[in-house]
Amino acid sequence: MTHPREALHAAPRLSRRAESLGTENAFVVLAEVNALARAGRDIVSFCIGQPDFPTPANVQEAGIAAIRAGRHGYTPSAGIDELRAAAAADIGARRGLAIAPDDVVVGAGAKPFIAYTIASVTDFGAGEEVIYPVPGFPIYESQILANGAVPVPLYLRESRDFAFDPAELEAKITDKTRLLILNTPHNPTGGMLRAADLDAIAAILAEHPQVWVYADEIYSRLGYAGRFESLASRPGMLERTVICDGASKTWAMTGWRIGYAANRTLAPVFTRWITNTDSCASQISQWAAVEAISGPQDAADAMRASFLERRDLIVGLLNAVPGVRCKLPGGAFYAWPNVTEACRITGCADSEALRKRLLNDAGVAVLADIHFGRRVPGDGQHIRFSYAASPQAIREGIARLDRFVRGHQK
Ligand SMILES: Cc1ncc(COP(=O)(O)O)c(C=O)c1O
Repeated sequence: MTHPREALHAAPRLSRRAESLGTENAFVVLAEVNALARAGRDIVSFCIGQPDFPTPANVQEAGIAAIRAGRHGYTPSAGIDELRAAAAADIGARRGLAIAPDDVVVGAGAKPFIAYTIASVTDFGAGEEVIYPVPGFPIYESQILANGAVPVPLYLRESRDFAFDPAELEAKITDKTRLLILNTPHNPTGGMLRAADLDAIAAILAEHPQVWVYADEIYSRLGYAGRFESLASRPGMLERTVICDGASKTWAMTGWRIGYAANRTLAPVFTRWITNTDSCASQISQWAAVEAISGPQDAADAMRASFLERRDLIVGLLNAVPGVRCKLPGGAFYAWPNVTEACRITGCADSEALRKRLLNDAGVAVLADIHFGRRVPGDGQHIRFSYAASPQAIREGIARLDRFVRGHQK
């Protein structure tokens, strides 16, 4: 029998929402890696999706100047006018669009807008559907479920350089579909939506006016194959598309927490969400982001050039490893090699077993495809390398992978 005092101490039940909340397994793997490193193991890590550069010096100085000038109180929930204007001009210029500062809302990173958008366009428990890329950023599925909507995966195919087949999108849209999530350049595959894909998506959506679009374009400046293209610039798409971008990846500002979203109808709704949650993004970081967007771009350009060199380095090295086949990613800083054959050679049941062996036996930390959703049927096993790592780390890490696989070859 439960003692009355124990009953008093038992916590009450949690909501279905809390129980369905997922996570980013990158953080779980990172904790494993840190524990091994603390125990003295030498690990080369390709886990974390953030630039390995310092925030540009002029941006750091702008943050320090804001503190010294006493600009550290609350701001309006939508952000300071200067940042809304700078972000609107930047988002517009790089997509060939006219974006008004009032249509832009500043948040504590780009990530919160995923939850705000899903919560703003779907009704809880009403069977409303959200189509999202798989593999994909795990927060999409987590927030779809936590908001009581129905997740509908749209598979990215290796044979299409990790774009989806527009015909598959068309087949998945129903009268319950409320939102389509797009991510280009893409995490985890580095894939990009090409102009022809965007034309096809816009033509399909023209037939389904009830569908919103969340365009996660946080890697928009890290494309290596031609001009960046957004669905929002296709006819009729701007009004129904949330364009989301931010400072984290472009200016190495992940911990400053600045992102922004543009959409005329949803901007006042996002502003209310922020009043209800964070109140506002850090004022200090907002002033730093004004400098990031409007100041000299040489540091951002140099980081991009460095990522491009590392991409070519890692993809070349990966393709020389037995049983590993890696497509050339068009953007972001991720490589997504197919390791189906490497699993077979090393006797690993799947990519997750290989990931564990690589970590524990070879001292190489990567993420597995299952950390980004269910596996794409028929596409085999994949692991993710974030190549936001030094060229020495890339050479050493891939040499360890190579030795590990060759060690199992007869
Ligand atoms: C696809 C994608 N969207 C959004 C984010 C979140 O970025 P932020 O740091 O701006 O919240 C990330 C970060 O890893 C990402 O990969």
